[in-house]
Amino acid sequence: MKADNVFRVMALGDIVGDAGRKVLQMRLLHLQRKYQPDLIVANGENAAHGFGITKKIVEEFLNWGIDVITAGNHIWQRKEIFDFVDTTPQLIRPLNYPPGTPGKGFYRFEKKGMDIVVVNIMGRIYMEPIDCPFRAMDDLLASLSGEDVLILVDFHAEATSEKQLMGWHLDGRVHAVWGTHTHIPTADERILPKKTAYISDIGMCGAVYSVIGMNVSESVRRVIQHLPVRFSPATEGDLELQGILIDFDRRSKKPLLIQRLSERVSQESS
Ligand SMILES: [Fe+2]
Ligand SMILES: [Fe+2]
Repeated sequence: MKADNVFRVMALGDIVGDAGRKVLQMRLLHLQRKYQPDLIVANGENAAHGFGITKKIVEEFLNWGIDVITAGNHIWQRKEIFDFVDTTPQLIRPLNYPPGTPGKGFYRFEKKGMDIVVVNIMGRIYMEPIDCPFRAMDDLLASLSGEDVLILVDFHAEATSEKQLMGWHLDGRVHAVWGTHTHIPTADERILPKKTAYISDIGMCGAVYSVIGMNVSESVRRVIQHLPVRFSPATEGDLELQGILIDFDRRSKKPLLIQRLSERVSQESS
């Protein structure tokens, strides 16, 4: 059960293709009943067949009770994104794209009496050389200075070192930093000394028998034989849903607990 003073956030790792959407369909309602999250954030950059997201999928996620959809490097891969990214504030793209990029890097809203800002930001190590994520966060935090708002950050990055560095850079300045993008959850969930909840990566929602959610034989052919094989999401076998739960004290906004969430289900049980 959840105590009255707790504001509980559920964050779900990158939802990969049909398998990712299917496992949410199978388990999200159950998890909502079990944990009673006050806010759900999910990374949707791989939701449309592994690459990007469509308006229909955004609407589906919002209908399921997901409050904010974060993204990452795959955000632009469906052309139709440009038709709705500016008019769907619940869908955010990395904050540190250059000025003038469509969409927004954060979403501010109120829910259950809490003023909330969810931020999506992207790393640069082994990734596209975009604007500095650390300075972009500094600028955003300067614009929020003095405001009593719960600040949650999805840092979409490859290198765990860069992610941990962002955790330290933001310790005591935001309320949580969690990583996405690698699709592999890390076991370093912690509350940093100045009371920022932190984990390097929260994992993914998709097929277990896969290479980070994608088809195994296609991945093997592309990497071993260097053939121009198109990647597609894996669909067979068991599915997994991964993420985190973070409890915050409603009044102080300090994190009380961060824990990993991992569900594995058989498609036979659908
Ligand atoms: Fe991803
Ligand atoms: Fe990514």
